[in-house]
Amino acid sequence: MSHVITIHSDLPEGKINRTIYGHFSEHLGRCIYEGIWVGEDSPIPNTEGMRNDVLKALQQLKIPVLRWPGGCFADEYHWKDGVGPRENRKQMINTHWGGVMENNHFGTHEFLRLCELLDCEPYISGNVGSGTVQEMSEWVEYMTFDGVSPMAAWRQENGREKPWKVKYFGVGNENWGCGGNMRPEYYADLYRRYQTYVRNYDENKIYKIACGPNVDDYRWMETLMREAHPYMDAISLHYYTLPGDSWASKGAATGFSEQEWFSTMKKALHMDELITRHSAIMDQYDPNKRIGLIVDEWGTWYDVEPGTNPGFLYQQNTIRDALVAGLTLNIFHEHNDRVVMANIAQVINVLQSVILTEGEKMILTPTYHVFNMYKVHQDAERLATHQTGTDYEMDGDKIPQVSVTASKDQTGSIHVSLCNLSHVEQSDITIQLRGLSEAVSETTGQQLTADSLDAHNTFESPENLKPLAFHAYEWEGDVLRAKLAPRSVTVLKITTG
Ligand code: AHR
Repeated sequence: MSHVITIHSDLPEGKINRTIYGHFSEHLGRCIYEGIWVGEDSPIPNTEGMRNDVLKALQQLKIPVLRWPGGCFADEYHWKDGVGPRENRKQMINTHWGGVMENNHFGTHEFLRLCELLDCEPYISGNVGSGTVQEMSEWVEYMTFDGVSPMAAWRQENGREKPWKVKYFGVGNENWGCGGNMRPEYYADLYRRYQTYVRNYDENKIYKIACGPNVDDYRWMETLMREAHPYMDAISLHYYTLPGDSWASKGAATGFSEQEWFSTMKKALHMDELITRHSAIMDQYDPNKRIGLIVDEWGTWYDVEPGTNPGFLYQQNTIRDALVAGLTLNIFHEHNDRVVMANIAQVINVLQSVILTEGEKMILTPTYHVFNMYKVHQDAERLATHQTGTDYEMDGDKIPQVSVTASKDQTGSIHVSLCNLSHVEQSDITIQLRGLSEAVSETTGQQLTADSLDAHNTFESPENLKPLAFHAYEWEGDVLRAKLAPRSVTVLKITTG
């Protein structure tokens, strides 16, 4: 199977905003508690209550932005319950996720400290569904006001003298569903009202994010843009990849069939159509693309691992997830004129995680390795590419076999990311590099692949899957020929001069 890819190194197509490499952390299952927060008294080595192994692994990824506290949890979260001395914080039932007790030990101070430790931007989701305008307004005042006010004084009493810098603020989450079951007309009015009181204090300029549609709810997008576009900086989109036909039968994370592999790839590719069509609606009201599209929940969603709490959404992560990650990031790159941020769901122990933990043990998933390999694209200039090639076919259905994007970083190096979606066929690719001003001086590559469709890392065998140096290529003049293994994600670095 062969593919011809042309990369125009002299045709920059705009910056790949680093925030599309964002993550999402919700009070759900073992994401926050156990995954991040173990408490200062834990035998697990920690920094101010946050586990060191996880901090180190996430620092390595260069996470640009982290969304919190939900998700559905955000619209039942009352931030005042999560500040002040921990022993006095209110307990509540996390009714949405497993009915477990939430002790509010991880709150605003802890989350913003986590962002400092990770050197990433916080993205806070405010509560519209069950919270008041005053509560939302005071949260912003508490976090960002540097003057004399009741909220600033309370923050100082709770140990934080200076305000934090908080840029990204979401006004509600999934308000068409768990965030209040609203109609778009109603939410558009509420959005206009709530966002009025999300104030900019001092130098802190909030980037306001409206709750956008679920999947292909184009009416929601049309209504929100028509009624509220002057009041927003961005609007969100949620789309999850389910291999199965329904929420009741999503499919297993491991032990799946070739057909399920194919349907997973096909469904992940649907992200491209969703962004294209939602963006076309946005264009009618925002032709200059001032308003960003933020895919703040995406990733695979399978049936939970047998024997685990169904409300915890814990699932394994295989080479199939690596392909979904690579493919989806390539799609975001190609839409860099509109997609300004994305947040994979969720960072640890929930859905398509980059890290899984079990007690004091931690493993990096194949999805982690893709984010690590791809981080070279953060803030790089996307290059125009063109490709022709064979399709990946199954049972009379077909999709493109190879997904590719390329970018040039600040040092002038070109990075090419390639996903071979086929579960079984190698892909022989030819890359024509056009428009170089200097000759290629060095090429290196890394590839993540596996022998079986559901290969994954386990706590017993944590390095079963990891990227290896890639050598299956050769140059003929300015043409590079390479052999991509089936079910593989490859990143090449091409240096000139
Ligand atoms: O990520 C899990 C859940 O999926 C989130 O809480 C919600 O926003 C979405 O439905």
